[in-house]
Amino acid sequence: MPRIRTALSERLGLKYPIVCAPMFIISNKEMIVAAAEAGILGSMPSLNLRTREEFRDALAWIRARTDKPFGINLTIKLTDPERLVHDLETCLEFKVPVIITSYGNPSELARRAHDAGAIVFHDVIHLKHALKAQESGADGIIGVSAGAGGHAGTTSPFVLYPYLRENLKVPVIAAGCIATGRQMASALSLGAELVYMGTRFIASTECGAEDAYKQRVINGSPEEILYTDAVSGIHANFLKDTVPGFEKQDANAAQKAIQSEGSGKKWKDIWSAGQGIALAKEVKPIGQIVEDIVREYVDARASLPALED
Ligand SMILES: Cc1cc2nc3c(=O)[nH]c(=O)nc-3n(C[C@H](O)[C@H](O)[C@H](O)COP(=O)(O)O)c2cc1C
Repeated sequence: MPRIRTALSERLGLKYPIVCAPMFIISNKEMIVAAAEAGILGSMPSLNLRTREEFRDALAWIRARTDKPFGINLTIKLTDPERLVHDLETCLEFKVPVIITSYGNPSELARRAHDAGAIVFHDVIHLKHALKAQESGADGIIGVSAGAGGHAGTTSPFVLYPYLRENLKVPVIAAGCIATGRQMASALSLGAELVYMGTRFIASTECGAEDAYKQRVINGSPEEILYTDAVSGIHANFLKDTVPGFEKQDANAAQKAIQSEGSGKKWKDIWSAGQGIALAKEVKPIGQIVEDIVREYVDARASLPALED
């Protein structure tokens, strides 16, 4: 398979400009190592490990298996401040090259990460927050479009990526609805330097999601995706029928149902995914998914209309 280079993928030492994006609860250390072996950047939220000690053990486990780059997601406002500082320090101790920040101002984390030689990506849904994050020292901005899995924006990927690219000095990482190499070709042509894919990797053998969830992802259609703030207070995309109370198509009813079910139900059985479920077809090991994406990317480029005089 040919190498696919962008300035940012070269800087990170990746074979392909692809990130296996962090996903609460379901991304894990096995995905990070498989992604590293496949030549892409794996990642997970530090909070996927319940305790500080488990997080440290996970980083040691990864480092014993690969010296390739990977990323850790620190969710600033969703993490207890002491745990946040601890997880950042543990990342720097294990020389995690990429810190992915979300939900908050990354300035302090960026300063400390830079002092230790790490680089920082920050995720946003609006230009306003992208400019602030750039000012705060983010080395790359993850633009999360409409239709993305997890917390998502409302701007079409067709507009968001080139819009951010035109207005930022730092590189743009395209997130949202990218499930195939054809879409990767589109995102790169729109000015992104990396593609950031979550939903497609739910349907990987290594992913910690239960089998029924993976089956929903490979058999789903975009009409099954619901964009709502009823689950966490921030708008995100979910498989509609896993959101309790949503038969009524009423956000208040859903919120009440979720609260009464308690936080256990809240995160374990409410399944987030993006509109990209339309294009994920098979559960496979990450290495094979990456090969498929690269093949599709090559085909997409070759299928563009030829230039004629
Ligand atoms: C199940 C799930 C959980 C997610 N959890 C997180 C998270 O904890 N932190 C975060 O920054 N992004 C999270 N995301 C967003 C992804 O990192 C990424 O932005 C998104 O999946 C990209 O869109 P796509 O799913 O259409 O590929 C999550 C996405 C999914 C599908």
